[in-house]
Parts: sequence; structure tokens; C-alpha cells
Amino acid sequence: MYDFKIQAADNAAMYRDLKSALQGLVADESDAIANMANAAALIWETLPDLNWAGFYRNVGGELVLGPFQGRPACIRIPFGQGVCGAAAATLEVQRVDDVHAFPGHIACDAASASEIVVPIVRDGELIAVLDIDSPKTARFTADDEAGCRKLAEILAEIL
Ligand code: SME
Repeated sequence: MYDFKIQAADNAAMYRDLKSALQGLVADESDAIANMANAAALIWETLPDLNWAGFYRNVGGELVLGPFQGRPACIRIPFGQGVCGAAAATLEVQRVDDVHAFPGHIACDAASASEIVVPIVRDGELIAVLDIDSPKTARFTADDEAGCRKLAEILAEIL
């Protein structure tokens, strides 16, 4: 059994612990689905105030639902559509304080209020996006973005 319950004193310590836990979980495994599944579970268990955490994979230039935690979600998202599609099309992190104000936002769960989507890129190619949603407006800060970018870097090496 893995016991990765992280109880950190502050946000920086939490992301540091999250990063080492993720490195530990993926270190000896090469299967991308297994690694995405454990990464989604680890993020879901660790970050407060989430209603969805998971992955959309780049399958032939379209985003296809990957391992996640939360409610069942839309399965295919074209590049350029919604928050995930914007991250895929631009390869830029999308940190959205109010998803209802984001043009073309795809509401998989009406409870979602804010969202961060981090592209996972290796050698200039999009592998997947990490998508994290919250029922709280402006849940994700610049510190969260920095922490999530680090997680995406770890995943870029092994997915
Ligand atoms: N809201 C996302 C769709 C994915 S779900 O949140 C899981 C978007 O607009 O890209």
C-alpha cells in the first residue's frame, strides 16, 4: 500500500512534498496510463477544494479523456476549444479565475468555478494536459501554477 497523505505546513511545502511523492510513484513504472492514474489520485488527495483532477491526452491532434478523479467528464475536446483546448493549442498554462467568463468553456461539472490547465510537453510535442478544477472562484494562485508546472515537468519525462 502507498501512504502518501501529505500534511504540509504551507503551500510551498505541500508542493515540495507532492513533487517528491509523484517522483516516487512514477520512478519505476513506464506505463503512461498507470502513471497518469496515480498522479491524478495524488493531486486529488492532496490539494484542497477540487472537484476534478486529471488528464486529457493528445491522440492524433485531439484531446481524449485520460485518467482522472471526479465526475465523469466530456470525452473528446478539439484543440482550441474550452480551457483545455486553449492550453493544447497554445502550449501555454491556462489559469482561469472564473470559468464562466472564459469564452467557450466546456462545463463538464456545473460546480466548477475556476480551473488550471497545464500542458505536458516533451521535445516541443504536446503529450497531454493536466486539468484541475475547483468549485471555488480564483482557487489557483501563481504559487499553484508554479507547483503544477513542476508536476507537469516530472510527467513530461515519463509519459
Ligand atoms: N472545463 C474544461 C473541460 C474539461 S472538464 O473541466 C473536466 C474545459 O473547458 O476545457
